[in-house]
Amino acid sequence: MNWRYKLQPAPGGSTGSLQLVYEPCPEPVPGPGDIVVGVSARSLNYRDLLMLRGQSASSAGGGVVPLSDGAGTVVAVGDGVTEFAVGDRVTGCFFRDWQDGPFDLAYHSAARGGSCDGMLAGSVVGPVGAFVPTPAHLSDEEAACLPCAALTAWHALFERGDLQPGQSVLALGTGGVSMWALQLATAAGARVIVTSRSAEKLERARAWGAWETVDTAEWPDWAARVWDLTGKRGVDHVIEVGGPGTLGQSMRAVAAGGHIALIGVLSGFGAPDASLFPLVARNVDLHGIYVGSRAMFTRMNAFLAAHQLRPVMDRSFSVGEIEEAYAWLESGRHLGKITVTG
Ligand SMILES: NC(=O)c1ccc[n+]([C@@H]2O[C@H](COP(=O)([O-])OP(=O)(O)OC[C@H]3O[C@@H](n4cnc5c(N)ncnc54)[C@H](OP(=O)(O)O)[C@@H]3O)[C@@H](O)[C@H]2O)c1
Repeated sequence: MNWRYKLQPAPGGSTGSLQLVYEPCPEPVPGPGDIVVGVSARSLNYRDLLMLRGQSASSAGGGVVPLSDGAGTVVAVGDGVTEFAVGDRVTGCFFRDWQDGPFDLAYHSAARGGSCDGMLAGSVVGPVGAFVPTPAHLSDEEAACLPCAALTAWHALFERGDLQPGQSVLALGTGGVSMWALQLATAAGARVIVTSRSAEKLERARAWGAWETVDTAEWPDWAARVWDLTGKRGVDHVIEVGGPGTLGQSMRAVAAGGHIALIGVLSGFGAPDASLFPLVARNVDLHGIYVGSRAMFTRMNAFLAAHQLRPVMDRSFSVGEIEEAYAWLESGRHLGKITVTG
């Protein structure tokens, strides 16, 4: 018997907030072109908190299986499937339909764990194009850390940012996206500055290859510190996961002709806290980034294999500890990725 969790309205909860509800369910049956995957590992992203809190329009009202990220083994294939066979190890794609080329708004209608069912289930079904082969050097648990955070960092730095060896990158905080940005950029020969509210986390970031670190508790004006650390030039790339509350400083930390990848909403969904004019004065590229396509995922996996990169893993929880896993994410005490196995 299969199982899944669904996000459902929480009785007596705050407006819009949802809860996780377990339910047994039938094994999925593959249609033509589909595969069924026995999921053995998943990872959490900040987005999953937004879904649980009902802060995302796509989860409003509930009813969806959460979590975009998961990996496992093919257990059944539908008619016409030639790319995968039973026993193959695969990892899910965030967007079911974004195969290659530019983004299309229609892809929003099938974003795993948001507008369509995600990976918090025993087995899942989907078209072949919604999965990629798992890199041979990674376990399922490690591969489950790729679909959202890693691909977002890859897209920002390599697909849109054209990162070059010797360039500098600023990664805000030590969460999933930023630690992937640290690893990917360092492997490509770039120098990465990491910020954090925690001195202890910054020590760990250095051990993972950070060139410089900035403790934002010590340096509330962290942009000025980054400016000094770069010889008053600024960084070539900013991994902007903070959003409206950090964009002002990011615009002061970026070099002339640099690149800001606008990714996150950790400080909310409001208007930026500063004038956008520095973008003009510095001839800066500002790119909105939303995860990435299957083709990007495939290119990233080739890079991960070539450099034998593995995710920065924080805590691992079992499926039965799913509430604790969400609570640990919400606490903000993690560095890198939180996983859920079983
Ligand atoms: N656009 C996309 O495709 C995309 C994809 C993935 C994620 N995102 C977004 O990117 C953001 C990060 O996601 P994630 O999954 O990597 O998160 P995460 O793993 O939960 O990491 C967040 C980390 O950022 C730091 N942080 C928290 N609040 C902050 C703030 N107000 N300003 C600056 N740093 C802050 C903290 O690190 P320290 O404790 O070290 O300070 C925290 O641990 C989220 O907003 C998420 O929704 C967007």
